[in-house]
Amino acid sequence: MTQTLSPATSLSGTVLLPGDKSISHRYAMLAAIAEETSVIENFAASRDCHSTLACLQALGVEVQERGQTVTIRGRGLRGLKTPAQVLDAGNSGTTIRLLSGILAGHSFESSITGDDSLSNRPMGRIIRPLRLMGAAIESRARELPPLRIRGGSLKGIRYSLPVASAQVKSCVLFAGLYGAAPTTVEETIPTRDHSEIALKEFGGALRIQGNWIEVDPEPRLQGRHLVVPGDLSGAAFFLVAAALVPKSELSLPGVGLNGRRRELLDYLVRAGLDLKVENEIEIAGEPRGDLRVRYSPELLQRPLPPICGEQVANLIDEIPVLAILGSQAAGGLKISDAHELRVKESDRISAIVTNLRAMGIEVEETADGLSMPGGQQLRGADIITRNDHRIAMAFAVAALAAEGETRIHNPECADVSFPGFWKALRNAAAKTVGKTG
Ligand code: S3P
Repeated sequence: MTQTLSPATSLSGTVLLPGDKSISHRYAMLAAIAEETSVIENFAASRDCHSTLACLQALGVEVQERGQTVTIRGRGLRGLKTPAQVLDAGNSGTTIRLLSGILAGHSFESSITGDDSLSNRPMGRIIRPLRLMGAAIESRARELPPLRIRGGSLKGIRYSLPVASAQVKSCVLFAGLYGAAPTTVEETIPTRDHSEIALKEFGGALRIQGNWIEVDPEPRLQGRHLVVPGDLSGAAFFLVAAALVPKSELSLPGVGLNGRRRELLDYLVRAGLDLKVENEIEIAGEPRGDLRVRYSPELLQRPLPPICGEQVANLIDEIPVLAILGSQAAGGLKISDAHELRVKESDRISAIVTNLRAMGIEVEETADGLSMPGGQQLRGADIITRNDHRIAMAFAVAALAAEGETRIHNPECADVSFPGFWKALRNAAAKTVGKTG
């Protein structure tokens, strides 16, 4: 399938976002190993979070879905059942990496795998700490999925993360629930802390001191009634679209504003975007609020701040769409220290560079990022998404600011994080999303 898009004259209205993907995964997994029942409202509609639900069901967890409300009957910390088949994490790195931490605490043997993209993503980063904890883990050559896991009684470890990754941190913290002693994780670069927040909400004991996070084993997690905020990483596409298309004005209600994720908002405000956060509240430790964004003509005339260093970890999922913004800024944009983008759902540095070049943009690819001179014009082109949701949506935004028509191939991959994206885009920019063929 292909989505054909033409330039937009403006965007307006209210964009309703799916529930946050990262938070939904964590709530579902913790609900599964809690006692009693949890009700999770505004659960992510994303395909990734449904991979997590399907894996939990295969592990004997009762899951009921009514609209966006998911009810999960917890089986207790060690209550998961031997799965009858290989667990399928689909496209979802969060599912395979976080769930592996929980599987490592169970004495049965299980295997977990995923689609072609996930089967080529590095798992050594979780295999190493889980083996140190005493789990037996086998993988395909080069530490790739499928993973075969047999755990049970684990050791508590002190582990310094060699890579800035919330998925790895969370995997070790979840495995730490099954240790004989507390487990401590050090992150030298702070990453999203949804696992820490959710663990506390479900009744886990966690101490955070500087960069060290210590989790106690054998908690009695309790079922909770929770409401997932809207997905800020999904909002990013609309915020950048409003920054690119003159006369745009959008409202995005109920967006998650976790301190480690809102770097995106700080970055866009520093860049000069007219962006307001209203009605901010915190529910179950996760802040949320309404966003109002307005096109600001000065933004593209000012130099965009470079993206580098520690900031990269907190902007990691938004870099594809920020690269589109950079291609239109008068001063261009330089992105560095972003090697992790090479091991996402696709090699995102390569996917961004190839598709920007197809759209007529001069861009230099580096090992850990890219750089572009300013003052360039996007031209409509054929976009090869590599089946990567964030590449499809980022280039949909590029199409709005391009000359001529853009065809996005395989647009359905957007469902991985944002089912309804194409409809939301069509509603916001009435004349833009044309034919589907
Ligand atoms: C996620 C963490 C990030 C991010 C991914 C979701 C999470 O991955 O890219 O989309 O929910 O923990 P890494 O931890 O590998 O950086």
